[in-house]
Amino acid sequence: MIKNIAIFASGEGTNAQTIIDYFKTSNQVKIALVVSNKSTANVLNRAKNNNIDTLIIDKHSFTETNEVIDVLKKANINLIVLAGFLWMIPENLIKAFPNKIVNIHPALLPKFGGKGMYGMNVHKAVIEAKEKESGISIHFVNEKYDEGKIISQHKCEVSETDTPENLAQKIQQLEHEHFPKVIENIL
Ligand code: GAR
Repeated sequence: MIKNIAIFASGEGTNAQTIIDYFKTSNQVKIALVVSNKSTANVLNRAKNNNIDTLIIDKHSFTETNEVIDVLKKANINLIVLAGFLWMIPENLIKAFPNKIVNIHPALLPKFGGKGMYGMNVHKAVIEAKEKESGISIHFVNEKYDEGKIISQHKCEVSETDTPENLAQKIQQLEHEHFPKVIENIL
């Protein structure tokens, strides 16, 4: 039976794009829906260019109602993939999709996780802490920010001359290389 993925993203969507591309020719996995909290997020253009349904959500319906869950269930979603999605996932959604929500974080959790730790903020913190390595963490989502069970981590070196910007590039490369494959394994 075909497995349906919903990708949640808030911004550019380069990870969403690599996932879309990876499964484009698959007859077992379909990217059925792209969900965003931001109507201007480029990830929505990427979805439209690939004929993928989109859903723009507002905070009230997301956190206070079951509307989003209803849409996901109706679309027979098997896995929710958070690819740069910046809102906390409410408990009703976690309960409706137990162990079926995965997130990618641009650092080696449990370090550099938690509220406010996203995108460039993470890379700045890693450089400031003079870490010798960083990387990506792919993990299940639970009720606490960035604390769900880790599925896999991939590392890169941080050199003394690295800036947050070029660390971001290294991390993005790791994300694009590993995230689609890890999703395939989970499925
Ligand atoms: C990615 O680097 C992802 O790890 C990060 O947002 C970026 C989204 O990039 N997520 C977080 O920081 C979550 N705490 P993209 O829109 O180009 O895929």
